[in-house]
Amino acid sequence: MSPSPSQIRRLVAAARRAGKSSYAPYSKFRVGAAVLTASGKIFAGCNVENASYGLTNCAERTAVFNAVAGGHRKLVAVAVYTPTPEATAPCGACRQVLNEFGPNAAVLCVCDSADRIETTLDQLLPRAFGPKDLRS
Ligand code: THU
Repeated sequence: MSPSPSQIRRLVAAARRAGKSSYAPYSKFRVGAAVLTASGKIFAGCNVENASYGLTNCAERTAVFNAVAGGHRKLVAVAVYTPTPEATAPCGACRQVLNEFGPNAAVLCVCDSADRIETTLDQLLPRAFGPKDLRS
């Protein structure tokens, strides 16, 4: 089922709120994300950087891991918020992680202007490698 307008509103609000918790002292690039589960729950996350730069976790992955840790493995939508003039789409690593739990998820990226990206995970990561490839 595709998310209702009110679910999308709540999802975007959760992503914006999560951006406030971003820990980004190195890049100063704050990101908030939220995922909507098939059961209608919302889990949020922010980017968490590390002095050992490569250990940084993106906001989208934090949100996905939060949902999975909460027992929810089916994702139907993801919202990403950046406090920038233009919307930012999820990085490649996050696309792959989102694919694991929401291959058909709607993706909505918002920012501090009216600019937005409305797409789907399938469009962002066509012909994705995923769980199905290990079942043959
Ligand atoms: N970042 C995200 O949180 N999500 C993305 O999809 C792209 C990048 C974070 C990682 C790092 O903390 C900062 O943005 C700059 O790359």
